Amino acid sequence: MAVVESSTKVVLGGVRGGPVQATLRQDRWWIQPVATMSVLVAFIIYSTWAAFQNKYYYVGATMHRDLISPFYSPCIAGSCVEGTKAGVAWNYWNLSPALLILIFPLGFRLTCYYYRRSYYRAFWWSPPACAVSDSHASYSGETKFPLVMQNVHRYFFYALLIFNSLLTWDAIQSFYQPGLGLGVSVGTIVLTVNAALLWCYSLSCHACRHLCGGGVRNFSEHPLRYRFWKLLTPLNAKHMNFAWASLVFVAFADVYVRLVASGVLTDYRLF
Ligand code: FES
Repeated sequence: MAVVESSTKVVLGGVRGGPVQATLRQDRWWIQPVATMSVLVAFIIYSTWAAFQNKYYYVGATMHRDLISPFYSPCIAGSCVEGTKAGVAWNYWNLSPALLILIFPLGFRLTCYYYRRSYYRAFWWSPPACAVSDSHASYSGETKFPLVMQNVHRYFFYALLIFNSLLTWDAIQSFYQPGLGLGVSVGTIVLTVNAALLWCYSLSCHACRHLCGGGVRNFSEHPLRYRFWKLLTPLNAKHMNFAWASLVFVAFADVYVRLVASGVLTDYRLF
């Protein structure tokens, strides 16, 4: 039987550098990149504003609390308010302490493998979604400057382990309420949840999983690393969820401390 071949050319999803409307997708594929862009832009605007405020970042002994905003911890600048100063102080820095600190968490998120995928899609449309053409005519990946710098991610990961430990210490300290003793308030819960989410986000990091289980030929010879790797793998599968939850919550923790410190809200003591 003769085989009839079709000569009709079908270009799935258009061509690189062509209009994204050429995609055959019928669903609302643009919702995800637009939502990503909206949340990231909102976070950038808020965190920049909060970092330059240089006030209302601490609720101290006068209010029987010990609550510090995660944007301002560890407070290592000469300008830090009483009660917030970390053991090390850089007295020459008199601008907002947050400007010193935020470089690390923002660098960590900016170079995160998951966020990279998201913001390349949302901001550069490279490509905006699966089966939608890349809006750029050429593609060099992350092999050239400046994107090759994304490889510093693992070093930000090491730095974040220190930051997470300090924020955990802040959360533990918040259970001691000056003048009242041990207790739990909404503020202590906020700082504790914030620290827990940041740990989940950091420990689910791909660099962390690689550190534990990567470069190993035989797991049977590395039982400890295998155990860590097994522990982290389910967390790693939820990395996207932790990335968003921790981002939103860290901003919420700053808002909460700011509102209490400025007298807009009262930090309710549960017991
Ligand atoms: S891959 Fe996202 S924090 Fe490392």
